[in-house]
Amino acid sequence: MKDKIIVTGGCGYIGSHTVITLIHHNYEVVIIDDLSNSSPQILDRIESISGVRPHFEQVDLKSFEATQAVFKTHKDAKAVIHFAAHKAVAESIQNPLMYYQNNLFSLLNVLKAQQENSINHLIFSSSATVYGNPSKMPITEDAPTQRSSSPYGNTKKIAEEILEDFTNSQSEISVISLRYFNPIGAHASGQIGEFPSGIPNNLMPYITQTAAGIREKLMVFGNDYPTKDGTPIRDYIHVVDLAEAHLKALERLLDASATSSLEVFNLGTGNGFSVLEMIKAFEAVSGRPLNYEITDRRPGDVPEMFASTTLAKNVLKWEASRNLKDMIQSSWTWEQNLRSELK
Ligand code: UD1
Repeated sequence: MKDKIIVTGGCGYIGSHTVITLIHHNYEVVIIDDLSNSSPQILDRIESISGVRPHFEQVDLKSFEATQAVFKTHKDAKAVIHFAAHKAVAESIQNPLMYYQNNLFSLLNVLKAQQENSINHLIFSSSATVYGNPSKMPITEDAPTQRSSSPYGNTKKIAEEILEDFTNSQSEISVISLRYFNPIGAHASGQIGEFPSGIPNNLMPYITQTAAGIREKLMVFGNDYPTKDGTPIRDYIHVVDLAEAHLKALERLLDASATSSLEVFNLGTGNGFSVLEMIKAFEAVSGRPLNYEITDRRPGDVPEMFASTTLAKNVLKWEASRNLKDMIQSSWTWEQNLRSELK
């Protein structure tokens, strides 16, 4: 058994895939999750896929006392991977205080508890949303960050600023912040995947739910953008590729290979696909037509986002290996498994 790693939000979408990758590489995992947007059944699924049941602590990271207590219990952990956060853009616009309170208090409490228990490595879940509406493609990590159009996005930008100030102020803790582009897909076992509560905000779960008959039709938000077919372009990345990037980041921190106390990497494939291309690719993979309609633009959407992958490739020694077909096929298999189980 290798080192013990604390994974906050380890029952969530990206967290659960990362936990499986860590277990496969013999790490001892402690999941901290408040189960506010996930189910304890995920622990059974992780065990059935990996053969190991991770330790589990149901803790609300908004409470410093609770965070400190659980970090003290696991003070032999070597690193923290901090996924736990709210992530629904529309909800954050309706309830900004809930987002600032949850996403920022939890980060502050994790950092403080790490400091008090000398757990000196952190991987932070950031987002390409910190680039706002970037002027140059592909987006490199040195592109300026911008105020986001949503409180959710702003919590990621502010969190990175907190991490910068914190790592500047002391020399013990080193941090890697990973800026995710558009994670989709599910585990090859078909047992874990994204489980959006309510109506999905994001494109891929909306497509699979429409194909499964849960939603009547997909609304395509605008076809008058300055792109090849008028619909916005995004860099979709397989969640298992993302999970593997966390493993690389962890190894980099544990080997003390990081060259500064705060490093930032884009996690994308470097390829951009439009909304219409995603629909066509889904139809080809699933063999069924998708009901969709072009409607107005969604406020806050930007025309084009895709990552420069050079830094991750050269420094993190990581690049995505799964293609769009893998992403869509696994999302669709997961959707079908999910629904058949609920029947
Ligand atoms: C969104 C968030 C971003 C967040 C990310 C991951 C916004 C403006 N951005 O990114 O902050 O980090 O999710 O959770 O919400 N689309 C449709 N119909 C739909 C859904 C989406 O046409 O029903 C289009 C969108 O206009 C967009 C593309 O599909 O062009 C991808 O949308 P989505 O999956 O929501 O991701 P982002 O907008 O890139």
